[in-house]
Amino acid sequence: MKVAALIPAAGSGTRLGLGPKAFVTVAGRSLLARSVAALAPHVAEVLVALPDGHALPPDLPARAITGGATRQATVHALLRATDADVVLVHDAARPFLPARVIAALCQAAQTGGAATAALPVADTLVQAGAAGPPQWGHLVPREGLWAVQTPQAFGRELLLRAHEAAARAGQSATDDAGLVARLGHAVALVPGDARLFKVTTPGDLALAQALAPVWDA
Ligand code: C5P
Repeated sequence: MKVAALIPAAGSGTRLGLGPKAFVTVAGRSLLARSVAALAPHVAEVLVALPDGHALPPDLPARAITGGATRQATVHALLRATDADVVLVHDAARPFLPARVIAALCQAAQTGGAATAALPVADTLVQAGAAGPPQWGHLVPREGLWAVQTPQAFGRELLLRAHEAAARAGQSATDDAGLVARLGHAVALVPGDARLFKVTTPGDLALAQALAPVWDA
């Protein structure tokens, strides 16, 4: 059974404001290089989608294609560029990826077809009012709620079907597990890791800078 890692890294990084986010470095290594290094030992191939006009940095054990206008379009393109049986889709923006999570996802996908890293929500959740400055609207019970991360693992044919159905219906989702769940297919929740946070804002980058030396030690 061939497993491929698919890394959407074609975002513009608008919220961070430092150019394409995948190329931003923490402790001397780019977010992309960190994600590739975490995945490469566990898969037959790593396929990366980059912004138009960008090349894969030398020495990364990966193959590159050009991404699409949205994350969803990028993953769809990645899926069409591999013949793997199982794909692990992982955002380049989540550079701290423990091997334990990769192993658990591969196992879950090979038995059940779809799985995502996720963590039970620990914070109190509140729905803000619809208008005006943010104000406490009503409490959302957090029991049973999970925050979804990547990697996410799927049989490639299943995820391709989910993307094609969404494209036909003009539907979008912020991740791939959401598209597969929309087909009515079960998606296993595999315990993720707090260090798998997504680098989105300057505050996240500061956290990543603080964590990197510990992670690398
Ligand atoms: O923008 P956001 O942080 O949600 O993006 C999540 C991941 O999707 C990032 O790794 C980003 O590079 C990727 N992405 C992409 N193609 C796009 C938009 C985002 O590969 N058009």
